[in-house]
Amino acid sequence: MDFSIKAFDTKNTIAAAKSGCIAVAVFENKKLSQEAKALDKGGEITAALKSGDLSGKAGSTLLLRDVSGAAASRVLLVGMGSDDAVSEKSFASAVGATLKAFASLGCQDAIIALPLADVKERDAAWAMRTIVIAAHESVFRTDTQKSKKDPAPAGVHKITLAAAANTESKTALAQATAIANGMNLTKELGNLSANVCTPTYLANTAKKLAKEFKFEVEVLERKQLEALKMGSFLSVTNGSEEPPKFIVLKHMGGKAKDAPVVLVGKGITFDTGGISIKAGPGMDEMKYDMCGAASVLGTFRAIGEMGLKLNVIGIVAACENMPSGRATKPGDIVTSMNGLTIEVLNTDAEGRLILCDALTYAERFNPAAVVDIATLTGACIVALGHHNSGLFTRTDAAHEKLAAELLDAGQNASDTAWRLPIGELYNEQLKSNFADLANIGTPGGASCTAAAFLENFTRKYTWAHLDIAGTAWKSGGAKGATGRPVPLLATFLINRT
Ligand code: BES
Ligand code: MN
Ligand code: ZN
Repeated sequence: MDFSIKAFDTKNTIAAAKSGCIAVAVFENKKLSQEAKALDKGGEITAALKSGDLSGKAGSTLLLRDVSGAAASRVLLVGMGSDDAVSEKSFASAVGATLKAFASLGCQDAIIALPLADVKERDAAWAMRTIVIAAHESVFRTDTQKSKKDPAPAGVHKITLAAAANTESKTALAQATAIANGMNLTKELGNLSANVCTPTYLANTAKKLAKEFKFEVEVLERKQLEALKMGSFLSVTNGSEEPPKFIVLKHMGGKAKDAPVVLVGKGITFDTGGISIKAGPGMDEMKYDMCGAASVLGTFRAIGEMGLKLNVIGIVAACENMPSGRATKPGDIVTSMNGLTIEVLNTDAEGRLILCDALTYAERFNPAAVVDIATLTGACIVALGHHNSGLFTRTDAAHEKLAAELLDAGQNASDTAWRLPIGELYNEQLKSNFADLANIGTPGGASCTAAAFLENFTRKYTWAHLDIAGTAWKSGGAKGATGRPVPLLATFLINRT
């Protein structure tokens, strides 16, 4: 999908714009937006509304041809709901309906002239992001592994956004496009089958990104991980034939002395549960257990494309969690990189075992903040469903600030998170008779005990944990990765520049 911006004014009128189609807003009370009025010299739009063919409710559409006041071949009337305050939800559903209508048009190019600046509590940049991300979503295909590719989507491929042609709009469009491209990479990696998307494949993807966007990249192999004493991470790879990879990407877009933000992704390319093996039905979806890693790589693609003026380091701990004669057994005790010993009571609680060593490794960067992203617990889906990612931080002032930044970024990016607790009570659940820590808690609050486990390894810096078990992919008929939380992470980083 190809986007550009064009400003329409009294000289360069929207009525004179030549295009396959112009989408303009109308309202529930039969009022016309300014842009619709400008095309209604012949009264066709007013007449269409009067006829009752279009309700004006958010998400309703009506296609008119041969509108005498418009040079464009078609005018798409888009219902925007109430005219005194366009809600976020109304705008998003109007955008969805516009794109759906565009997909079945016989033309390739169209203009979107919706009221970008009129959404309640949001700005034009938000509206542009909403359009651009939804448009990329509407043409996204997962056919890499199909012998016959899905047919190329028909309809509109070139969209002109009617907006002021200033640097703000241009930046907003560039950022939105970068985020959409980052999401596409995250989705593509998530959807690939686990026999293709191995730790090695993730490492190669990181190397390709580094080449394209001039990141520094380093891939640590088993020998180096042993030398670093990452006994916890390595214990998860024991049952697998695939070599583990520990990937470090650096985008040094800020000043050399500025402390970096570090993103840490869980990259379990397949989670069988190990010896604590999972039940059969739906186990295929555990190919998505690397979506945290994929969101780090997707966010790097976005910040690379934006040339973000910030120092950002990405860490991906990647391996498989498999059962075998060499696999870690329930009750085994391992020593993590920071010296804490861990009793592995359940080999299916493996995400925290790889992340704890990655979080210890992050200390060497003297980070301004560390955010880890992980499909960590099924319990997070029970708590929050598929709407919000779980957000965990400590509660001192510095952490409250970081939490607020992440929540706000999620709100602005329509990729929301919701705060859940950690703290002493959850740490108590992780006591072991034989080691410093157990890797699972007593029953109840499994997302919180998982986060509390990680917290033990993050005491040297400001840290947040995002549990994306419910938001990273969809199950059922629409099975597929969502690209979340790339919008949240990219927006969080943009807001730090
Ligand atoms: N990758 C899973 C979490 C998961 C499960 C995410 C289903 C999305 C859907 C994780 O490694 C895991 O297995 N967690 C266990 C933890 C438990 C053993 C304490 C879980 O959630 O059951
Ligand atoms: Mn697991
Ligand atoms: Zn897992």
